[in-house]
Amino acid sequence: MEKSYDRERLIVVANAEPYQHLHSEGGIKQEKLAGGLTTGLDPMMKNSNNLWIAWGRGEADFEVTDDESKVVVPDDEIGYTLKRLELSREEINGFYYGFSNSTLWPICHSFPHKANLGKENWEVYKKVNKRFAESVLEELRPGDRIWVQDYQLALVPQMIRQEKPDAKIAIFWHIPWPPWETFGIIPWKRELVEGILGADFIGFHTSWLVHNFLDTVFKLGGAANRDENIARLDSDRTVVNNIPLGIDTDFFQSTAKRKEEAQRLKENFASRKLVLGVDRLDYTKGIDRRIEAISTFFEKYPQYKGEVSFIERISPSRSKVKEYQQMREKIEQGIAEINGELRGEEWVPIRYFYQHLPQEQLIPYYLAADVGLLTPLIDGMNLVAKEYVATRDKGMLILSEFAGAAETLGEAIQVNPYNSERVADALHEALTTPIEDQKRKFDKMKRKLNQMDVHWWRDRFLEEWEISLHN
Ligand code: G6P
Repeated sequence: MEKSYDRERLIVVANAEPYQHLHSEGGIKQEKLAGGLTTGLDPMMKNSNNLWIAWGRGEADFEVTDDESKVVVPDDEIGYTLKRLELSREEINGFYYGFSNSTLWPICHSFPHKANLGKENWEVYKKVNKRFAESVLEELRPGDRIWVQDYQLALVPQMIRQEKPDAKIAIFWHIPWPPWETFGIIPWKRELVEGILGADFIGFHTSWLVHNFLDTVFKLGGAANRDENIARLDSDRTVVNNIPLGIDTDFFQSTAKRKEEAQRLKENFASRKLVLGVDRLDYTKGIDRRIEAISTFFEKYPQYKGEVSFIERISPSRSKVKEYQQMREKIEQGIAEINGELRGEEWVPIRYFYQHLPQEQLIPYYLAADVGLLTPLIDGMNLVAKEYVATRDKGMLILSEFAGAAETLGEAIQVNPYNSERVADALHEALTTPIEDQKRKFDKMKRKLNQMDVHWWRDRFLEEWEISLHN
């Protein structure tokens, strides 16, 4: 049965754009961007009349847009419209590097000591959120649904609501929502929560994040009904729920033609077993701790020297934020020390790549790796864990218990990423698990991933949003 929202246009508003345009030898090329949000949402936007509004940050982004700053993406299949906002240097520094990534990001990931609480960035954040809201208002037609994404745009729902009280607005928060003691550190906490509560419906990845959010509303003096997941501050009621983002499982399962590439990769690494980590460079991903755990692993289980290699594929991100530069140096130093100490004539313990790879080029890595090692210190979701499982029939996944994906992937070996001894033991366990057990676990996980894929996520979100409008 056709639902009313099938006929309505979806306007996604996100800081990140799904594709950027870059100069290349053959002219301007389109590149798909890394990051859970964009890779997650792109498949559900295709084949429709939808609109995505985002900051255009590619070097050739505005060379391909029309006079309304719009371009159709992707350029190789039936696509949707991307409307790009151009931000000034001051806006990029204050809004993106500043308040979004040096204040909200560390606070929401429970690293309060890394947070910059300067007022200047907050002022720019408000200004840029206003620009996004105005850009939506310019486009808005009756019946449209406005789906705001993530922490960079927390004020947008309320800003649109003020102008259009009847608009249909929802927000999905892709990163963690921290406990009150941490969120409460932000001097503008009330404005932020009021901004979000301008939405009719709010989604988080997991149940404990919904709990933290409702608790924040309550501590701010609002009403938080934990049985019905309803929040209210100085606003109308907002429904809050957990709907874990899924992946495009069909894409990851249609991998047969990549098997040869995977085989070549395996041969290149001169190692019997491969363990893979794929992350955006970020201190929340726990890459430095993982390197420590790898060192512990070779100390505790020396029989794996010469036998097991670790591949660390790291995509550059937010490289102007000091924390990120320091992190990169620390990781590279740690890897160089282990490799310097242990490497053999052909065998290298850790192969490290600092380069973004498009999703389809990651597939041979997923296929080649006997073990996926994803140990974020904290993560809203971690889609890579899901991608690794979806691509294979067997293998082992070692996953941080502090990743949102752990709520769905209960068959993974779950570890405390701070405990390097435990991670080392988990690696040994993974490398000695019989194939039949591996298959059984993968089968169970894959069934869940197929059922709760990205299309399920979108439909579930739209359905629950619809219900919230009628209650
Ligand atoms: C996370 C955030 C997204 C963000 C992505 C990439 O997944 O939740 O909002 O787009 O990281 O980060 P970047 O700063 O490079 O856009």
